[in-house]
Amino acid sequence: MNYPQLLAPILDFLHCPTPDAWIEKARQPENLPLLLTDHMICELKAAQTAMLLIRKYVADQRGGEALLSWLKPYESFTYGGGPEPDFVALHKRIGKSVMPHTEDPWGQQLIDSMVLLIKEELHHFWQVREVMMKRDIPYVKITASRYARGLIRDLRTWEPQRLIDKLICGAYIEARSCERFAALAPHVDEELQAFYLSLLRSEARHYQDYLTLAQSISDDDITPRVRHFGDVEAALITTPDSEFRFHSGVPA
Ligand SMILES: [Fe+2]
Ligand SMILES: [Fe+2]
Repeated sequence: MNYPQLLAPILDFLHCPTPDAWIEKARQPENLPLLLTDHMICELKAAQTAMLLIRKYVADQRGGEALLSWLKPYESFTYGGGPEPDFVALHKRIGKSVMPHTEDPWGQQLIDSMVLLIKEELHHFWQVREVMMKRDIPYVKITASRYARGLIRDLRTWEPQRLIDKLICGAYIEARSCERFAALAPHVDEELQAFYLSLLRSEARHYQDYLTLAQSISDDDITPRVRHFGDVEAALITTPDSEFRFHSGVPA
C-alpha cells in the first residue's frame, strides 16, 4: 500500500498534525488499554453516526428499525454491560438488502456509502476487541473525550445546513483517525502497527465519502465551512486537554 500517497490529501485537509506530546503519551505501554478502549468505542460511534444520518434523512420505518437492530448488540455490550456479541453472526446480517431504496439520488448515495461505512466500522470494532482480548485487556467503561462534543457545538441549527455541517464534522473525525493511526504506527509493536496501517485505507475513503455527500447536498461551495471546522478541529487537537483519549488534545 502506498501510505504517503494515501495520507497526503488527509494531511492537507487537516489544519495541523498530531502534536508530539500526544504521541509521546500514546506510546507509553501503560496507556495502551485506555487507547484501545477509546478506539473501540470510536469505531462504534462512527457506525452510530452513519446510522443516525440514514435514519434521520432517508430511511423509512422498516429500514430504520433494521439499522437500529444491527447496532443494538454492540451498544448493549459497550454501554449497558451486555454480553460479548457474536461478531461473526452479526456481521452476516448487515447488508443493503434491508435498506430502503429511494428515488432521490442523493439519498441513495447516502444509503450506499453509509451502509458500507457502518459495516466497516463494526468490523473495526470487532478487530479492536480481538486485540484487547488477546492482550488480556478487559473492557472497562470510560468517559468520552471533548473532541466530538467540541465539533458539534458549531453545527448550524437549520437544515440542510445542519446536515452539511454534520457531514463535514464526520469528514474531520475520519481524517483525524486516519492521521493518528499513521502517526502511531511507527511507535507500537509489529502486530498493532500492521493493524493500524490496515485501517488507513478505509478511514481515508470514509473522509472522502463524507465530503462528497456534503458538497453534493449543498447549493454553495462548502470550502469556507470546511475551513471553519478545520480551525475548530485543530484547536481541539493543539490545546491542552485534561483527558487522554484517541482524539484528545495536548496532554495537560
Ligand atoms: Fe473505523
Ligand atoms: Fe471510519
